[in-house]
Amino acid sequence: MNTRTKADRATTTTAPASSRSRCNGACNGKCRCPKPDLTRPDMADLSRYPLVSTIRAVSFDADVVTIAWSDDGISRFHHGWLRENSPDPASRHPHSRERLVSPLDIPADLRPESVTLESPVALAVTWDMAGQPVSRFDAGWLRAHCYTRGDFIANPPRHLASLTPQPAYWNAVMYSDAMLRVWLRDYLETGWSVISGVPDEHDLSTVLGARIGVVRSSNFGFQFDVMSKAAPISNAYTASDLPLHTDMPHYELPPGTQILHCLRNDADGGESLLSDGVAVANLLRNEHPEAFRLLSQISVPFRFQDVDGDYNSRHRIIECDAAQNPIFVNWSNSTIAPLDADPEIMPNLRAAIRLFLTYLQDPRFLITLKLEAGQMLVFDNRRMLHGRKAFDPQTGGRHLQGCYLDTSEVLSRLRMLERDSGESEEPVEAVAVA
Ligand code: OGA
Ligand code: ZN
Repeated sequence: MNTRTKADRATTTTAPASSRSRCNGACNGKCRCPKPDLTRPDMADLSRYPLVSTIRAVSFDADVVTIAWSDDGISRFHHGWLRENSPDPASRHPHSRERLVSPLDIPADLRPESVTLESPVALAVTWDMAGQPVSRFDAGWLRAHCYTRGDFIANPPRHLASLTPQPAYWNAVMYSDAMLRVWLRDYLETGWSVISGVPDEHDLSTVLGARIGVVRSSNFGFQFDVMSKAAPISNAYTASDLPLHTDMPHYELPPGTQILHCLRNDADGGESLLSDGVAVANLLRNEHPEAFRLLSQISVPFRFQDVDGDYNSRHRIIECDAAQNPIFVNWSNSTIAPLDADPEIMPNLRAAIRLFLTYLQDPRFLITLKLEAGQMLVFDNRRMLHGRKAFDPQTGGRHLQGCYLDTSEVLSRLRMLERDSGESEEPVEAVAVA
């Protein structure tokens, strides 16, 4: 790495951080310390990136620009990475905010001509080839996108037990954006929620769905009625018990959120079941690594068939990220197709499935509740397994209406609410399988 660069010297001469530190910013404009320019470069990005730290010094070598933060952290960014993320209007459309520059437009040997700290929050890179823009980066944006600080964990390990959400109310979630934001945060943390005070009206599952985002239609329709039917196309449309399952593993992408509005539930039985499959997967990883390995490496087939469709997809029962942290689960006793694993593996795979299903019912994980008319159960269908106990239609009625959304919709809604609120919390990010 170069020792001191032109950029280092420029930074050192202005030295805004050390001047400020004399009065610690507490002068409130009264003392004569030089006030740094904190005008932040426009990154063509609607998110707010908190100014966790200002930049103390910058330097560069043949490969990377190195940033020394005022809180003593260090970040390194490769030259090509900085160039492709340049927010100038030729590289990122100022209105669509989408990228215009392609990796193929960036010469592999492009290097900075100079790297300058224009202020403690603005880094400017001038490139060593004609026709290149000046790339100006905001310190908050750089810090948020840093990929070399050791404290960055892509998908931190999830919980080791099922969690309990806060009580939630229809009017609050439907008519207050602030409450919707609080509710979405809580729901994403616990993986499930019960909303009370829901009016006794049909078609409200999709009203909540549309308040969050784009409702996802499926072979069960835009909205589906869960009740005991004469000619059921699914075990869900009977009065039988439904063992813990995830919905729609017969699709290539099972939906992330399911909403079930309870219109009536006065028959004997019919209690709802939930269990945090990702928490159980974490337990298996720690205590039964061989079962975990089989469930997270071998894909199994699922199939749904009726007169209108024939759907088939394969999934691993436990899906992990690149660090082997479990992030999604897939299991439905109703739609699992005949297992087709190698014969040497089949007995162990079946034993691993039995172990997984057994732990799902452990009291640390199993949640049992009886929904009442006027309540809505919302849960993360890729993390929580759900089910119900059998009910007796001779003793009363049971009717739920439901719909699905993808997790992308939930995360987008929360990001927009946080953008509008002006308050920033830990950013919400999608997780990715290995
Ligand atoms: C379903 C389902 C649960 C219930 O429709 O997929 O799991 O409580 N229903 O009836
Ligand atoms: Zn279901």
